[in-house]
Order: sequence, then C-alpha cells, then structure tokens
Amino acid sequence: MPVYNEPSISEKIMSQDPKRYTITAALPYTNGPVHIGHLAGVYVPADIYARFQRLQGKDVAFVCGSDEHGVPITIKAKKEGITPQQVVDKYHGIIKQSFEDFGITFDNYSRTSAKIHHDTASAFFKELYENGKFIEEVTEQLYDADANQFLADRFVIGTCPKCGNEESYGDQCENCGTSHNATDLINPKSAITGAVPTLKETKHWFLPLDQYQSWLKEWIVDGHKKDWKTNVYGQCKSWIDDGLRPRAVTRDLDWGIPVPAEGAEGKVLYVWFDAPIGYISATKEWAAKEGKDWEPYWKDEDTKLLHFIGKDNIVFHCIIFPSMLKAEGSYILPNNVPANEFLNLEGNKISTSKNWAVWLHEYLVDFPGQQDVLRYALTANAPETKDNDFTWADFQLRNNSELVAIFGNFINRVVVLTHKYYAGEVPQPGILSEVDEQTLTELKAYPDVITSSIERYRFREAQQELMNVARLGNKYLADEEPWKTIKTDEERTKTVMYVALQIASALAVLSEPFLPFTAKKLSGILNVDATPATNLNWNAVSTKSQLLSPGHKIAEVQLLFSKIEDAQVQQQLDKLAASKKANEIMNATVEPQKETIQFDDFTKLDMRVGTIIEAEKMPKTKKLLVLKVDTGIDVRTIVSGIAESFTPEEVVGKRVTVLVNLAPRALRGVESQGMILMTETPEGKLVFVNPDASTPTSDSVLNGATIN
Ligand code: MF3
Ligand code: ZN
Repeated sequence: MPVYNEPSISEKIMSQDPKRYTITAALPYTNGPVHIGHLAGVYVPADIYARFQRLQGKDVAFVCGSDEHGVPITIKAKKEGITPQQVVDKYHGIIKQSFEDFGITFDNYSRTSAKIHHDTASAFFKELYENGKFIEEVTEQLYDADANQFLADRFVIGTCPKCGNEESYGDQCENCGTSHNATDLINPKSAITGAVPTLKETKHWFLPLDQYQSWLKEWIVDGHKKDWKTNVYGQCKSWIDDGLRPRAVTRDLDWGIPVPAEGAEGKVLYVWFDAPIGYISATKEWAAKEGKDWEPYWKDEDTKLLHFIGKDNIVFHCIIFPSMLKAEGSYILPNNVPANEFLNLEGNKISTSKNWAVWLHEYLVDFPGQQDVLRYALTANAPETKDNDFTWADFQLRNNSELVAIFGNFINRVVVLTHKYYAGEVPQPGILSEVDEQTLTELKAYPDVITSSIERYRFREAQQELMNVARLGNKYLADEEPWKTIKTDEERTKTVMYVALQIASALAVLSEPFLPFTAKKLSGILNVDATPATNLNWNAVSTKSQLLSPGHKIAEVQLLFSKIEDAQVQQQLDKLAASKKANEIMNATVEPQKETIQFDDFTKLDMRVGTIIEAEKMPKTKKLLVLKVDTGIDVRTIVSGIAESFTPEEVVGKRVTVLVNLAPRALRGVESQGMILMTETPEGKLVFVNPDASTPTSDSVLNGATIN
C-alpha cells in the first residue's frame, strides 16, 4: 500500500496552490550539443514538472533558450576558425530540434542573440544603472599583452582560492562551485596564449552584493531552510556566511550585449548578467505570440517561479539573479531552485571537449522512437542528492527488466486478453471481491503519492511509484489468473479484466509526465483521451469509481516497449572506446623542441650503422637490455633502456644507428659503450632510428631522434 512521506510538508506545499507557474530550465551554452548530463540534471525533471502541472490544469509558462554569449562561445569560434555567430547558429539549431524531438515541452525555446533579448537585457541594465544600483569603478584587471585582450571568465585559468583546484575559471570554480573575481585566482594563466597575465586598468560596473547580504540571509538562510534541497541550501548558506562582495557585471569583450552606459564603448554585459534575463525575454516572446500579458508570470505574487538547473549554476540563480531582481524591485523571486548534482558516464566525468558524452541528437538517431527509454533511465538514475553514474548496461536493464517486463507486459496482457475474450470491449463486472476492492483502493491512492513526490522535486521516487502502479496490475493478474478462470468462471473473468482495464487506463494518465510517448500510445490503444479536460484525468484516478466503462471499445494491440539487444549496447560502448582512444592520441604530449645547437656541435657526434647481434635482459631491472652490437669498427656492449618496448628476441639482427663516441658509462655495473638512437611515434611508441628506412631523409630522421 503506498504511503505518503512526510505528509505535513507535502500538504503544506500543495495547499499553496499558486495561480500560475513560471518554470525555467537553464539556458544551455550554445558551444556544443546537449548531452545526457544536461538532460538528467535539468531538462527531464523540468519537463516532468511542467507536464505534471499542465495535467492538473494549471497555467504554465515553461521557458528556455540558447545561451549565446560569453567566453565559451568565443573560445569555440576561435578553435573552429569561424565567427561566434556561426557557432551559435549551428548549435542553436541542433539543440532546439533535439529538445523538440525528445519531447521536452518548452512553451518557448528562445535565444539570447534575439533582438527581444538584447532589448530586454539592455533595458534591465539601464534601469539599474539609472537608479544608482551599480558601483562604477576603475580597477586593475587581468590582461594578456600577447593577445592584446583582457582575460575575463574562461579566458583565464588558475588555482581556486577556496578549494585549491588548479583549473578554476576566472569567474567560477567548477570544483567547489564558488564564484569569484578573476583577480582572486592564484597563479593565473591566460587560456588564450598561456601567458602570465599582467594587470591593466579598466572601468566596470559592479553589483554590490554586500548590500544584499542581510536580505539574502533572511530570504534564504532563514526563509528556505525547510523547502529548498539541502545541496542548494548548504551552498547558499556557506557563501552568505563567508560574506558577499561586489561583482562586476560588465566585461571587456567584443561578443555580447553592449553596455548601455556612458563611457562603456567596447564593453559588454557579463554573460551571467544577461543570460538569466533570457528567461524573462523568452516569456515575453511567448506571451506576445499567444496574445497574453507576460508580466503576471514575473511580477504577480501568486506565481510560483522555479528554476531548474545543475549544481554549477546555484550561485547565479540563488544569489546573483535574485539580487538583480531585488535591485530592479518589481519582480517576484524564485519559490524554489531544485538544482541537481552531476551525472557521470561509465564512471567518468562527462566532457564535451573530450567527447565523453551521450549526445541527445545522436541518441535520437541510434534509438529511433525510444525517447521514453532514455527519459526513464535518466530519471531512475537522476543525480538528485549526489552525483550519479549512467551506464549502458543499466540503460539496457532498466528497459528490458522494467519497462518491457513490468509496464509493457502488464498492458500487453490486458489488451491481448480483452481482444481474445471480449472482442476488445470492456466487460461488465460482477460483484467486486475483497481483492478487487482493495486493488482499486490502492490504485486511487497513487495520484496523491506521485504528486507528493513531484511537489518535493523527488522525481526518481515519483517514477518508482508510477512503476508500482504497473506492478500492482501485474500482481493482480498473476493472482487472479483470468487465463485460467476463463475456463471455469466466465463471470469472475469479466470482473478481473474490468479491474485490470481500470489500472491500465490509470497508467495512461499517470505515466504522461514521465513517459509521454508511451502515455500517448497507451491512450491510443485504450481508445481514450486522457487530458485534463476529459473524465480521464489525474484527479479522476483517485476520485472516480470507474475510469473505463463497460462496453467501451479499445483499439488494436501495439507493443509499448521493445527489448534492447546486446549488440546495440555494444555499439554505444564501442563509440565511447573510440573517443577514449582519440583522446589518448591527442593528449600524447609532444616534447617541445630543445635549444638550438650549432653545426659544430652536430659534427662532434660520430654515428655509425650497426647490427645487434646479441641481446638479453639486465637481471632485476624492468627497462634495460644488454646488447652486443657490431658497429663496423668493433663489437661492443651497449646498455639500452628499451626492455619495456622490445623483447631480446625482437631486436637481435636489427640494423640500428649507433652513437659510438659517447663517453662510456656504467649502468648497474655493466659498462655501456655508446648509444642506440631511438625516437617516438606521435602515438608514443618507441621505435629505432632505422638506417634502412627509405621514406624520411637521414637528416630528418636524425633531427627527430631523442637520445635514449
Ligand atoms: N549557460 C549556462 C550553463 O550552461 C546556464 C545559463 S542559465 C541562465 O551553465 F540562467 F543564465 F540562463
Ligand atoms: Zn574551488
């Protein structure tokens, strides 16, 4: 029997019942496509929540868009040799389409390069500027003299003053989440040239967060201890306790929204100033299209504003953006910021630059029509309270032994038997037995149980409860065995099938937020319209005594889920293995060229072509081979550190280049009289400088050789 967890909290939340919902999902940076980490952390939970509220008949504005400014875009453009605009156009298209195909139901997916956003963000800044909400100050900022550029944000990397992470960005450390000023970094280095930056004076506008400190403390630390997630609350509290400092909201960059202030030529808004305003622009754009007024969605106290984000965005959504909204004065504040932790992939951190990811647009091609499987696996593993790992083995298991074996199996049995026994018509039940009554009572409790989990942003738990509805159905059929009673008791069989059909139709409603494609298919199979406006809605599942009436005709059977085969999983694992390999090759460090030598230095080297005539391992060492080499002058002993790359048998008979006039040196008690020339391939493999190799000229071979 399902039970409420902490009913007092859920009751409290549910009793608030706002007039409308403004649901935002973090605007993805448009420097690459969307991957499963983004989906599990932000977009799937946000979509479940938005769909759920719509199912309750609520007024919802679910907005998102592409985050097209900021240094990450500029860096990508530099790397690809194209303009920032070309970068954002490319990825905006891919991202928007893949969200749509995946069934993320944004009411509007906008972009921050849109005119409406430039106007909105610019006006927002101006409003604060004209009301004296900023501090205008000339300060010394990090500057890369080689690149002729100020080093804002991701253009500078250094050690985080808080946690010691050596790869912190100028504006934020991704390790501990702290947001800082670039000048706080220890040992800063330019990400453009690697140069150590100098300091140069420049004027900027600062939001004096210190002035909002006590207000933030009251609002978050005192006001949201109970209802915000502990990870979110904890981070906020620690920043507020540490003391907040003014933050620059402008930058010396050439990609972004021009600063509408006097003496601000060549400066743009900090990307984290303009991007969250993107939520507002996206709402405006949507409202204009729908013929609605956008303002209540941002200014009416009866609106529940929620920000779905990943943990690296907490400071911006809980401290900086709210302070901006507060400074402006006419906006509401978020009711909650349900941030998730990170999702890893096969034990490693997801990385766009290392191509260690499952890309949404590729998934949609590799698994056509299987959006719900990914949604399901991601929600089942959602990193709600700690980082979590996605594996393809788990994905397959979730599909085969949960979606196929539990949900799919139940529906299939019900539909097939209804066709077989009653030509697809819901039968007239007899008197309900105690088991029947109990089962239906249990079913009626689920909408509230699932609601309670969703309202507390516990989507994994909510989805588990949904699966429990399918389990309830399976257990009921397994216990009542209509396939047996059909031979002995036709009346009883009708009652059992009637009850099972009620459970199936409840699933068509309750699964919609989690498995929208399946819900739609199931509605089709059951020939019902499960929308808020009809008799088959969320509320009806708990309140109605009958969801499907006797005599109702259902449609033909269709498979809801199909098995995922080992070969499909292997194909994905192979893809990842290829990325790993490619990274290894790319990361094999190329030694920088050594200092220049003169021709005279070179002519001192006496190199001869020799043949290895004997070889054996030096006892008790890993690396050394003792070789006898015929140099043409003599046969001599040379100790060479190549035992990890070659066996003695492999090298005997090899023709090699020998430096014969190197001063003799004793290695482990054996005198080495010369040196065999070796070099490394780009893949890091040790090879002989082979005197018989025909392609490179002997000069170039020797120039590339490292003495071994
Ligand atoms: N682009 C940011 C990221 O991917 C998120 C921006 S959220 C917004 O981390 F609030 F600024 F829109
Ligand atoms: Zn840190």
